[in-house]
Amino acid sequence: MTVTASSASRAAEILSRPVALNGLTVPNRIAMAPMTRKFSPGGVPGDDVRSYYARRAAAGVGLIVTEGTYVGHESAGESNRVPRFHGEEQLAGWAKVAEAVHAAGGTIVPQLWHIGMVRKPGYPPYADAPAVGPSGIRVDGTENAGKAMTQSDLDDVIGAFAEAAAAAERIGFDGVELHGAHGYLLDQFLWAGTNRRTDAYGGDPVARTTFAAEIVAAVREVVSPDFPVIFRYSQWKQEAYDARLAETPEELEAILTPLAAAGVDAFHASTRRYWLPEFEGSDLNLAGWTKKLTGRPTITVGSVGLDGDFIRAFVGEGAPVQGIDELLDRLERDEFDLVAVGRALLQDPEWAAKVLGGRLEELKPYDAAALNTLS
Ligand SMILES: Cc1cc2nc3c(=O)[nH]c(=O)nc-3n(C[C@H](O)[C@H](O)[C@H](O)COP(=O)(O)O)c2cc1C
Repeated sequence: MTVTASSASRAAEILSRPVALNGLTVPNRIAMAPMTRKFSPGGVPGDDVRSYYARRAAAGVGLIVTEGTYVGHESAGESNRVPRFHGEEQLAGWAKVAEAVHAAGGTIVPQLWHIGMVRKPGYPPYADAPAVGPSGIRVDGTENAGKAMTQSDLDDVIGAFAEAAAAAERIGFDGVELHGAHGYLLDQFLWAGTNRRTDAYGGDPVARTTFAAEIVAAVREVVSPDFPVIFRYSQWKQEAYDARLAETPEELEAILTPLAAAGVDAFHASTRRYWLPEFEGSDLNLAGWTKKLTGRPTITVGSVGLDGDFIRAFVGEGAPVQGIDELLDRLERDEFDLVAVGRALLQDPEWAAKVLGGRLEELKPYDAAALNTLS
């Protein structure tokens, strides 16, 4: 396998540079992508979850974005093993996670989550709560599959996000990430496929952004001015990989501008392969376009470091995986500011230490068995 010494030393140098997200200085450019693990019975993150995050912080991950964690609304989730970001015991568990990550030299934000129409009958005491969404339509197009949210439902969910963000700051987190991606509640409002509302929350892209922007504004109001608010979004949906929110940069700008104006400090543009251009006529990926259109720092993500030999491996149907030099070139051009790493960090808790230490040849190839444990 061919990792050149110059790639390794460039990776170490470029990825080691600190970066500011509002009042937070992240010590380097490597973020852990949010990944649902379902190891928190009763919604309480325990010692194993704390060690899992602390281990990655100790090995050099600059910014941990936690797995999606449910806000305090009866319809927010469906699994009793996904951590919740409300309730005394749950928040006490999270406080210990944040403390351990800080002790290990890292920074950490919770990813605040409401799954909306994805919800199937849930766990007690919320078992009977309905799936809710903009129009009662599932991402797969099924109509009348839940409740179209009333104004009072919208106000409750906005309040739940704000309360969770206030709790995050109170218990020692460094910021919050709002989950607006992948076909969950906020994205169901952003996307015309699930949002058929005729009131102020539906219609053109700007109107469809109203609900998410109101959540951002409500969060901004209850946290300190320098507390970073990150917004994650995607074109693709969990149940529709080819779906798109925006076909043109102009449409994307219509969505991102109200979010930035409402107080988003950084965007996390979720793609499955970071090297793919987002729109014709430019090499910029989704994070690159987001930075260009909003001026805010951005996080890129998608198949970073997934290949064992890092340079020439192939995934799935044979799509080429790009090597570290492509990523470094884009970082050097300021296309984006941070790089989130998902599966490669599940596989190898030491991934960041190896990359920051110029030890690319020691990276382990990804094996899906890594999904089964919290090691
Ligand atoms: C097991 C698993 C769970 C995930 N859970 C979440 C989640 O809770 N929130 C989210 O925004 N993305 C989630 N994702 C998507 C990742 O954050 C990331 O965008 C994706 O894995 C691509 O990055 P990678 O190629 O480096 O793995 C999940 C991905 C995996 C593999």
